[in-house]
Amino acid sequence: MIIGVPKEIKNNESRVGMTPAGVFELVKNHHKVYVQSTAGEGSGFFDEDYLEAGATILQSIAEVYERSDMIVKVKEPIEEEYGLVRQGQVIFTYFHFASSVTLTRAMLKSGAICIAYETVEDTDGTLPLLTPMSEVAGRMAIQQGAKYLEKPKKGRGVLLGGVPGVAPGRVLVLGAGVVGTQAAKMAAGLGAHVTILDINMKRLRYINDVMPSHVVTEYSNEFNIRKHIQTHDLIIGGVLLKGAKAPNLITRDMLKIMRPGTVIVDVAVDQGGCVETTRPTTHEDPIYIIDDVIHYSVANMPGAVPYTSTVALTNVTLPYVLELANKGWYKACEEDLALHKGLNIIEGEIAYKEIAETFKWETVVA
Ligand SMILES: NC(=O)c1ccc[n+]([C@@H]2O[C@H](COP(=O)([O-])OP(=O)(O)OC[C@H]3O[C@@H](n4cnc5c(N)ncnc54)[C@H](O)[C@@H]3O)[C@@H](O)[C@H]2O)c1
Repeated sequence: MIIGVPKEIKNNESRVGMTPAGVFELVKNHHKVYVQSTAGEGSGFFDEDYLEAGATILQSIAEVYERSDMIVKVKEPIEEEYGLVRQGQVIFTYFHFASSVTLTRAMLKSGAICIAYETVEDTDGTLPLLTPMSEVAGRMAIQQGAKYLEKPKKGRGVLLGGVPGVAPGRVLVLGAGVVGTQAAKMAAGLGAHVTILDINMKRLRYINDVMPSHVVTEYSNEFNIRKHIQTHDLIIGGVLLKGAKAPNLITRDMLKIMRPGTVIVDVAVDQGGCVETTRPTTHEDPIYIIDDVIHYSVANMPGAVPYTSTVALTNVTLPYVLELANKGWYKACEEDLALHKGLNIIEGEIAYKEIAETFKWETVVA
């Protein structure tokens, strides 16, 4: 199969859909890979690296789309790319169709087969191509939180690890899923005292089993949240209700009972946030302050660490890319139920029920 890797042209996107290691594997399996010149630069991979791995470098994005049977990228195609997508071409990337009717219509019109990273789903209900980004965001949340706790950044002036003779900082983690677990692990590693809350007892049992004793689990309810926000320096929001807006666990009035300089990193901002006062921010302007409480709520946290994010993402996408390339999309999706769940659009037809429901359309195939 001929596989194309275009450069991402969405604003502020430095990740790339395939690393030289991925090219090497595909070429070893007798496929041809076209990579657009400088596609990997933002993540620290240069044209020479791709050439050495066996890729052919093309100068323009149009050539990459025109010559490839399958396009592997990171973000959904943006308007400039709509006209480049061809009938029968496989596009394997994050799409998030439900958030854009324009994109959905454009991909339906193109006649392409759109397989969305975010809906590839294992039999246990986990989303293997979303997990690595949550891992990145969870770990990064502590790094960012620690920074904004510093006085020059308007924080409480607390060092998370403390020092001999001074108690460590206190981190409250809301949600013990992927983000929450990784955040708790990082905070614990720094020596902070960690309290982690969830409504899922299985998750709390797991955390209790695997974390050191300075990570304390508690059931998530308003009483406990009100109690802990008064004594914790850094609060991480890592709550998710699948397919719904995140619940407002910290309401506007609660900010008043927090100590000045407390930092909230609401990772769940992409689902509306679990703090009432959360609104999306950017890496250029990541924080704002309400009632002396610092809010950090960047909607694409992994974008700040493109090297780590690209490698983490492509580690998990490559096995699927290989399946698609070796078997063709139809057989690969027929034989792999996880990949089958990724089918969102097939040559002009919606193949994922929830997208049709979002737009109140009737056509669903597959
Ligand atoms: N901002 C970013 O850049 C970025 C990056 C990656 C993920 N995210 C977002 O982070 C959020 C968390 O993702 P995840 O992968 O950890 O999800 P997850 O499903 O692994 O974990 C969510 C957890 O929240 C828990 N939860 C639900 N209701 C709760 C409540 N009332 N109190 C406490 N816990 C509750 C669930 O039981 C679950 O354990 C999602 O909204 C995701 O989209 C954001």
